[in-house]
Amino acid sequence: MLVLGIESSCDETAAAVVEHGNVIKSNIIASQVKTHAPFGGVVPELASREHLDCITQVVSQSLAEAGLTLSEIAGIAVTRGPGLIGSLLVGLSYAKSLSFSMKKPLAGVNHIEGHVYSVVFENPPVEYPAVALIVSGGHTTLFFIPEPERYAVLGRTRDDAAGEAYDKVAKLLGLGYPGGPVLDKLAQRGDAKAARIVFTVPRMDGPNLDFSFSGLKTAVVRFFKENHLQPVGKDEAPGDNIVNLAASFQNSVIESLLAQLRRAVRRHSPRTIILAGGVACNSGLRRAASSADFGAPVYFPSPSLATDNAAMIAAAGYPKLLRGENHGFKINALAAMKLDNLPLDGYERPVKARYRNQI
Ligand code: KG4
Ligand code: ZN
Repeated sequence: MLVLGIESSCDETAAAVVEHGNVIKSNIIASQVKTHAPFGGVVPELASREHLDCITQVVSQSLAEAGLTLSEIAGIAVTRGPGLIGSLLVGLSYAKSLSFSMKKPLAGVNHIEGHVYSVVFENPPVEYPAVALIVSGGHTTLFFIPEPERYAVLGRTRDDAAGEAYDKVAKLLGLGYPGGPVLDKLAQRGDAKAARIVFTVPRMDGPNLDFSFSGLKTAVVRFFKENHLQPVGKDEAPGDNIVNLAASFQNSVIESLLAQLRRAVRRHSPRTIILAGGVACNSGLRRAASSADFGAPVYFPSPSLATDNAAMIAAAGYPKLLRGENHGFKINALAAMKLDNLPLDGYERPVKARYRNQI
């Protein structure tokens, strides 16, 4: 079964063709990074306009690269939310019009569920129950997934997402946007334990496995000011202080992510651990999570599938389309769409009760 995936929730216009839910035939991504970089973050109005400008070409290219025509596609999967409403509407309206004109079923997909499915292309099949940590620019959420498509939120960030903290710290240090890749690179050659630049890991106790990154961001700002540091200039090499700061910041982010992941694993004894979203590109996080003894394998997407793409949306839409679902033309974009459908009617009671106690 061939699925056309369309993604436009933030600043990437993407289309992909995926066969059998896990074989990528094409995966086209038009990034808007250049447009937003001067502003140090995504400008929603500019994002919607750019999606409009390039969606037709991105979809055509995904079909051409797969060597297919629209008539050969079995169904369309499109991101319905969460994301920027104007951006979402471009992809969703386009997908609806294709679905209507070509008489193809349409599945509306949660973007975060897409990130969960981003591991299906390059890893053995996911075994359930699974625990997933989705870390991106907009989300830091920990899920228990007892079976496919059932999601219980175990914890989420109470303030900034991990990627957002990376982007804000990089902006402060004059390192440009997006901040994750550049800070990650600096952190690799820095000393995370360098004297005076050790940021503590926020302690998040209690039944919820929540995260918090704004305190860490504030500690970085305070350190930066108290030590009279200057943002790195355009063609300037960052000094030791900045390099060590990057390493210490990264160390704290990784430790706080892994502390909650460890607690989730202890509680739920998953058979697979999924670590996905843009921040899952992080070299330090990948290293630490791969060498941690979780008692279950950790599946990552490769970096090009960790950041936003439409192959993961097609993969998440595949089981729905396979079941014959067609969400039709009535579905709307949902800027704050939730991925939290446990307990669900029909799901066995013990898990329901257990889940309730933990929230
Ligand atoms: O998943 P994604 O493409 O978009 C959202 O759904 O938000 O994630 C983008 C985020 C950005 O905040 C970016 O700075 C971060 O992922 N990121 C990284 C790395 N590569 C991208 N963060 C840390 N280390 C990286 N290597
Ligand atoms: Zn994303």
